Amino acid sequence: MRIVAINGSPRKDGNCTQIINVVRKAVEEAGVEFRELQPGANVHPCLACYKCIDDSEHKCVQNDCVNEIIRECREADGILLVSPVYHGGIAGNMKCVIDRLMLAGGCGPENIFAHKVGGALCTLRRTGGSATYHELLAAMDAMEMIIMTSDYWGAVHGAEKGECMEDYEGLEVAERLGKNMAWMVRVLAQTRDTIPAPEAYPRKMMNFIR
Ligand SMILES: Cc1cc2nc3c(=O)[nH]c(=O)nc-3n(C[C@H](O)[C@H](O)[C@H](O)COP(=O)(O)O)c2cc1C
Repeated sequence: MRIVAINGSPRKDGNCTQIINVVRKAVEEAGVEFRELQPGANVHPCLACYKCIDDSEHKCVQNDCVNEIIRECREADGILLVSPVYHGGIAGNMKCVIDRLMLAGGCGPENIFAHKVGGALCTLRRTGGSATYHELLAAMDAMEMIIMTSDYWGAVHGAEKGECMEDYEGLEVAERLGKNMAWMVRVLAQTRDTIPAPEAYPRKMMNFIR
């Protein structure tokens, strides 16, 4: 059982890393493995070539870290998306990762992320947390993931590196999210054989073109 976190901050050891470590502690204490992936700033945007949709291995044609992220997410039981708020939304490099992850793995005829446990958090100085948190959730919503929440929206405040550790309410939200995600991963692992997930089948696409 493993949860992987995608850290969308280009900063090393920033606030995203620090709240991910809060989640990590809660997850590991519950007996679930935890891994953090931080792609950094060298992530390219989606080329809209749609080659990944027909690729049986769900690979993107671009040769950066995103294929490794897709593979890690495929093998994981849970996926945590974490981004800093940049101008009211998801940070640009994280948006590039999500666009490509979704197209390659979650939107084609075979959705490799369906019924995986999802969770989201963002960090911010002041404004845009709710919008960003809901943007992250929306990605998982569209991939048929089992979205776990905490007892409040996943926005943790802090501007300079480490300031988020003073937002004790935000830290509690992150910790509770970790506990809830780990719990659901364990529940699903226990019940996989006795209560299997509904069978997957491709969505009929309709482009509103007459
Ligand atoms: C380009 C840029 C845009 C930002 N935009 C916002 C914003 O719209 N709202 C906000 O509250 N903080 C904003 N911030 C602050 C970051 O969200 C905040 O410092 C966050 O904790 C950084 O996380 P990190 O340390 O993991 O990189 C912005 C920072 C940068 C670099």
